[in-house]
Amino acid sequence: MKPTRGILTILFVCAYLSFANCCHTFKNTEAEIKPQNEQVYTDKITGCIERANDAFQGKTIEHVAVKQQMLPHIFRDSIRHLVKLKSIRFEKCEIESIHPYTFRNLPRVVEIAFTGNNISEIKAETFARDMPVQILNLNDNNIKSVENFQNMPKLKRLLIKNNKISAITNNWFINSTSLQEIDISHNKLENLTANCFQYTKNLVKIDLSYNDISKLSKNTFDILKNIDFLNLRNNRISQIDGNAFVNNAVINHLNLGANKLNYLPTALMDNIKVKTFTITGNPMRCNCIESVTKWLERIEGVMVPLQGCTDSRLPYCVFPKILSLECEENIDNESVQRYMGIIKGNKELLACASDFFY
Ligand SMILES: *[C@@H]1O[C@H](CO)[C@@H](O)[C@H](O)[C@H]1NC(C)=O
Ligand SMILES: *[C@@H]1O[C@H](CO)[C@@H](O)[C@H](O)[C@H]1NC(C)=O
Ligand SMILES: *[C@@H]1O[C@H](CO)[C@@H](O)[C@H](O)[C@H]1NC(C)=O
Ligand SMILES: *[C@@H]1O[C@H](CO)[C@@H](O)[C@H](O)[C@H]1NC(C)=O
Repeated sequence: MKPTRGILTILFVCAYLSFANCCHTFKNTEAEIKPQNEQVYTDKITGCIERANDAFQGKTIEHVAVKQQMLPHIFRDSIRHLVKLKSIRFEKCEIESIHPYTFRNLPRVVEIAFTGNNISEIKAETFARDMPVQILNLNDNNIKSVENFQNMPKLKRLLIKNNKISAITNNWFINSTSLQEIDISHNKLENLTANCFQYTKNLVKIDLSYNDISKLSKNTFDILKNIDFLNLRNNRISQIDGNAFVNNAVINHLNLGANKLNYLPTALMDNIKVKTFTITGNPMRCNCIESVTKWLERIEGVMVPLQGCTDSRLPYCVFPKILSLECEENIDNESVQRYMGIIKGNKELLACASDFFY
């Protein structure tokens, strides 16, 4: 009986040890470590990223960066008790999942980055726990589903480009009212819901380019009165409601290039002011582009070309078969077809058009 008891004891001790140090996330993970007032060095993390880690040699750690390691799952409580930690980054670590309770007791973290991984979903409040995060970078993942980014009162920049997000819902940002910049370009966004930015009245920089948005409905950008930069290029927008923006909104730089617009509603032009405006790469009817030009003259706005589209053969506008003097505010299939006919088969010109035309 004795040997069995010995084995049991060993098993028990192992189980106890692995429970006490229950973090399996970072087995032999190389990390760049920056202690307070000291140089960066590289060491191996073997358990959690926490104060007691051997790699930290009892030092006060400010920054940790992990690059090109194999870390498919980030488990619960695996990054914790680093009271001076300011930033933590994971780049190209093949991460597929982050437990929503990964972070604990990190009272000074202002920047978190998980870039170039393979994360597919973000659970509610994952980055909100005991942390004053200001910059959250989730660029270049495989994110399809986001529950929310709630309760991050210090969050200023959310970078989540090149993922697979199809909708921003109204509850994403409850209690995250400091947000100033969102980059959600190169995703799969379809129609934006009304008031989707209702909690983020300080938002000034919005990049929604390279998505699948087909219309901007009433009240999409309600509350936002002063936008510095709104990029909607390379979507498939054919309709914009005259009241998509709040009355008298100022949008310093508005880019609607490479969409599917035949006209810009008069109500919209009466409603907003811009400093620069881009409309290149749309099948605009010629009499409708004229009203845009007049609008810009009136408000002293400047028409700027679409970046990367220097080919002078790109049509400025298309004449419909039936010429009318007024810009008719309806979707005009014929103009779309004519436009498509001009750019069809020309790779350079196609790059300046909505992927609807491809
Ligand atoms: C990314 O994760 C998905 C599952 O969400 C998997 O099917 C795919 O193979 C992964 N891709 C890479 C490059 O690891
Ligand atoms: C927002 O914050 C308030 C005050 O802290 C809290 O009572 C409320 O539950 C929070 N809302 C959500 C949806 O978390
Ligand atoms: C988006 O709007 C377009 C145009 O009204 C409509 O055809 C399409 O079904 C809408 N898509 C979604 C996902 O609601
Ligand atoms: C517009 O043109 C496309 C392609 O020729 C056609 O399939 C579609 O039915 C047309 N729509 C209307 C409203 O005429």
